[in-house]
Amino acid sequence: MRELTSDTITDAVLEQMATTPDPRMREVMEAAVKHLHAFAREVNLTPGEWIKGIAFMTAVGKMCTAERQEFVLLSDTLGLSALVNGLHDETAIEEGTHTSLLGPFYREASPKLEAGTQIARTVKPGSECVLYGRVTDVNGGPLANATVSIWQTGADGLYDIQEQGAAIDYRGVFTTDTNGVYVLRTVKPIGYSIPMDGPVGEMIAAQKRHGMRPAHIHFLVGAPGYRELVTALYLRDDPHLADDVVFGSSGDLAVDLDRSDPNCPIKGLPSIRFDMRLSREGEADKTSGRVGTDPAAIMRSAKTGNGQTHAPAAS
Ligand SMILES: [Fe+2]
Repeated sequence: MRELTSDTITDAVLEQMATTPDPRMREVMEAAVKHLHAFAREVNLTPGEWIKGIAFMTAVGKMCTAERQEFVLLSDTLGLSALVNGLHDETAIEEGTHTSLLGPFYREASPKLEAGTQIARTVKPGSECVLYGRVTDVNGGPLANATVSIWQTGADGLYDIQEQGAAIDYRGVFTTDTNGVYVLRTVKPIGYSIPMDGPVGEMIAAQKRHGMRPAHIHFLVGAPGYRELVTALYLRDDPHLADDVVFGSSGDLAVDLDRSDPNCPIKGLPSIRFDMRLSREGEADKTSGRVGTDPAAIMRSAKTGNGQTHAPAAS
């Protein structure tokens, strides 16, 4: 038997895992072990630091509930979600609107609403605005009957899902018309802090990061034959547009609140226009491209052991 040392341990693990029948699982786990071992060697990881890391990951797991997904938040704040989104965008057969984070606050059970509906249950005077845009293919051809799911925070900077037992608010599912246009009423979103009362918040505070996200509205768009799009619009005048704590914002997704847009389908209100281009479906779209999910779906999946955590948006 060979002697195991800090130099030979990596190869010993890889040899033992070489029996993995699933080739993709073998590839991913081999790389994970190589990089984990390399990380430990690079920082000369001490036993105390290792146990602190284990305690941190345990705390992240314990913070997860049907309303909160702390692991998605951890992935987001480490830039891993944005990286996986970027890698996914590169697999599209056409360049459509870029992906942004699904985040930890997506909820599958959003109501289907008529065009023009106000999605906020309460609207403070002066905060109402119109949100509209066109969903097209990459050549600008309209996509009729596309499903456009939208969610955002309320005026307090919280999602409905963060308020215990809260009813559905600030979210809804709309359908595009024959010109590919969706339109709804909402309130102007504001920037907000990610939840700072858990282990991820402690990490952010320890790193002296501000924890803020720029004002944004999330979108999940589906149309038969096209790649599902998970993205978000960002308000250009937000001071944190360039230093989003979860690395979701980018210049190509930034839009303005317009007080006199002659093309707005609902007159008399300020408006935000956000057009989206969808790539045709390709080989890479046989599996979901979502990075994040409804926290309740993750809890269900953990209980049943079923890896399927969501249904396609276009269904
Ligand atoms: Fe968000």
